[in-house]
Amino acid sequence: MKIIVTGGAGFIGGNFVYYELKNHPEDEIICLDNLTYAGNLETLEDAMKNPKFKFVKADIADREAVFKLFEEEKPDIVVNFAAESHVDRSIENPEIFLQTNIMGTQVLMDACRKYGITRYHQVSTDEVYGDLPLDRPDLFFTETTPIHTSSPYSASKASADLLVLAYHRTFKLPVTITRCSNNYGPYHFPEKLIPLMISRALADEPLPVYGKGENVRDWLYVEDHCAAIDLVMRKGKVGEVYNVGGHNEKSNLDVVKIILKQLGKPESLITYVTDRPGHDMRYAIDPTKIHEELGWLPQTKFEDGIKQTIDWYLTHKEWWQNILSGDYQNYFEKMYGERLD
Ligand code: NAD
Ligand code: TYD
Repeated sequence: MKIIVTGGAGFIGGNFVYYELKNHPEDEIICLDNLTYAGNLETLEDAMKNPKFKFVKADIADREAVFKLFEEEKPDIVVNFAAESHVDRSIENPEIFLQTNIMGTQVLMDACRKYGITRYHQVSTDEVYGDLPLDRPDLFFTETTPIHTSSPYSASKASADLLVLAYHRTFKLPVTITRCSNNYGPYHFPEKLIPLMISRALADEPLPVYGKGENVRDWLYVEDHCAAIDLVMRKGKVGEVYNVGGHNEKSNLDVVKIILKQLGKPESLITYVTDRPGHDMRYAIDPTKIHEELGWLPQTKFEDGIKQTIDWYLTHKEWWQNILSGDYQNYFEKMYGERLD
């Protein structure tokens, strides 16, 4: 099978590329990514050595480039990870979120309609459900929880989800959607909570915790998310949404304290900063559907996953230090400038 993975130079897409190459060595993977600030080709360095893998630099919202790729490759499956993904950036500048997350999704699905695919899979987020109150630990997001978004990011992801379901209903496009909770693990861009705190703690710099640090996120190890997407795109029921999460709720403050403890750094590094506008209080996923229909269960406990993640950041300092210094953005030109033009 030939699979187009968009956004494969980012955090989850990169992990997914490796998951597929390892677990489905018979399949061909084509990564389509335009290498925004969040895309890092160094993440795909090992994949590049695999003859079953190919990288194509293009914008998912560029209709001509996307149609040309589909014409040449005739993919069987398309998995769309490509997105602007950082809530704080969406508050600073919403426009690119609408362009990539909504218009890009439309272009990909139009190409799927024209060239024919067996599955279009949309990687979505639990943030489309808005948030839950802290004092109702009995409440969880299910697939029927109404869409109720808070940030330009979540609104753009929710819009894309609605469009995906509309393409199924109107054009019979064989789609599936997964809505996952917060991921953590290797290759996570160091402006997001966990890698930011690791890199700053290692440098003995203050750790900026928004508000009182009491907001709750439901953390899932990235490989468990990849396994869920793989299952849904191959065996999930067409037209369906599947929530993905591992019942691992933690307040931001608890997460930061766990990281400090693991690194042997003092809690005095914690610095409370002005809260994010519209900051969602609590996310919590009910993953019953994907468990009962497809047998998915998370394999990595948070205590183990966070240790593995910290170890990864300790043994891959060059990867994230190149990001902090901005060097990673020269990597594409240096390695592929002449070869891919
Ligand atoms: P990321 O920001 O790390 O990576 C995004 C990737 O998409 C980058 O490689 C970037 O270069 C690429 N990209 C951005 N705009 C593009 C465009 N116009 N054309 C082609 N490529 C483009 O994001 P991530 O954290 O890996 O998230 C991947 C997907 O999973 C997103 O759709 C996100 O909404 C969703 N998701 C993320 C989380 C999480 O915790 N990170 C949780 C649930 C769902
Ligand atoms: P983030 O990694 O941006 O993911 P999301 O907002 O999509 O859940 O943030 C996770 C949580 O951590 C969120 O509640 C905001 C908080 N946060 C901080 O307290 N300080 C920070 O510097 C960052 C980046 C996030």
